[in-house]
Amino acid sequence: PQTIGRDEHGRLTVGGLDVVSIAREFGTAAYVIDEEDFRARARAFRDEFAAPFAELGGVDVFYAGKAFLCAEVARWVADEGLCLDVCSGGELAVAQRAGFPAERIGLHGNNKSVTEIRQALEYGVGRIVVDSFEEIERIVAVATELGVRAPVMVRVTVGVEAHTHEFIATAHEDQKFGFSLAGGKAAEAVSRILAHGDRLELLGLHSHIGSQIFDTAGFEVSARRLIGLHAEVARLHGVHMPELDLGGGYGIAYTSEHTPMAPRELGEQMADLVRRELKAVGDGSPDTPVPRVSIEPGRAIVGPSTFTLYEVGTVKDVDLGEGVQRAYVSVDGGMSDNIRTALYDADYSCTLANRSSDEPPRLARVVGKHCESGDIVVMDEYLPNDIRAGDLIAVPGTGAYCRSMASQYNHTPRPPVLAVRDGRARVLVRRETVEDLLALDVG
Ligand code: LLP
Repeated sequence: PQTIGRDEHGRLTVGGLDVVSIAREFGTAAYVIDEEDFRARARAFRDEFAAPFAELGGVDVFYAGKAFLCAEVARWVADEGLCLDVCSGGELAVAQRAGFPAERIGLHGNNKSVTEIRQALEYGVGRIVVDSFEEIERIVAVATELGVRAPVMVRVTVGVEAHTHEFIATAHEDQKFGFSLAGGKAAEAVSRILAHGDRLELLGLHSHIGSQIFDTAGFEVSARRLIGLHAEVARLHGVHMPELDLGGGYGIAYTSEHTPMAPRELGEQMADLVRRELKAVGDGSPDTPVPRVSIEPGRAIVGPSTFTLYEVGTVKDVDLGEGVQRAYVSVDGGMSDNIRTALYDADYSCTLANRSSDEPPRLARVVGKHCESGDIVVMDEYLPNDIRAGDLIAVPGTGAYCRSMASQYNHTPRPPVLAVRDGRARVLVRRETVEDLLALDVG
């Protein structure tokens, strides 16, 4: 987080508050979100990323709530002028509780239920991103029942998959999302939607090519393919769809090995590639208006704003042979609050947070308290030699896909989400209790 520092006792501070007092008041493990940092990242997308799009008609930034969502965060997103991407009835319910403006919400999902579609249309969401032929019929049925016209976009499988530094632009038709472009299914979906013009309003095309991406090469190919179809729809049907969504996926630095682009540079590259591709198909003249672009960053907004605070319970030295030792540092959480290391081989770092130490560093692995050896939070880190029970450690970059993918494995109550700002901490999501868990057990 941007407001992070150390006080005169060597204690980590965030938002003007030291972590020792946070741990004392709220306990550990806990997710600590720096409100100012979250808001600053949202604003950077709204202003700096968006600036180069000015002559293209601007850009709408949808915060992807799947990365992390609670009512207060939804309010921050609304406050900062962003839109919101939700991908389930549950995420939509959070947005509704926050009073998030319906017209600024987009609903995703490859298997939305009739109940979810009804919830979205009753609330009046600004767009539903359609993912299957069955869904087209379901939306028509619910829209007819409610007497409304549903705004929809078509999720297109553009044949590009991008993760971290690599992208592959041929063989990625073999997955569950969207309508295939190569197979002509996307064009067919457009035709079917247009045929239901009384109940469906076609806003545009959508694609999402992956996550934790560091360069724009994959986006260039997906924009080319999306804009190709966009132009074809105009030619075939005489319909100029007003929107074009390129999805989310911008990478963040989990360790010093990652170097994400600043929002301004990212915006410049994205605007350039969109401009080039629109020009190639001749869009931009008065009779072929330029669509408004939207993006859906989740991780890049919430990821770096949060760290997880743990207390060390045990430190065990394990001999790796040839005189090398590794310290297994067990903390009061683990794969239930951060599954990403076990699931994706994700890299995290960590730091001693309650004090400073002049001791030499030693090789350490931060592990959780769950009953399996794959329960690892930080694979390799150097921690001071005198790391010991009772110390606090902070794992940065845990804002995205940690709380939102947390489980209660081993009947472990999920940690709270705390927001810090101006020297004060408050609870956004309270700590779960064993009573919460037992309440579900009704047998
Ligand atoms: N839009 C759509 C349609 C998406 O499917 C996603 C993420 C996003 C936007 C936001 O992507 P972001 O900007 O956060 O990368 N659990 C995995 C990530 C799954 C991403 C799924 N879709 C992880 O922890 O890395």
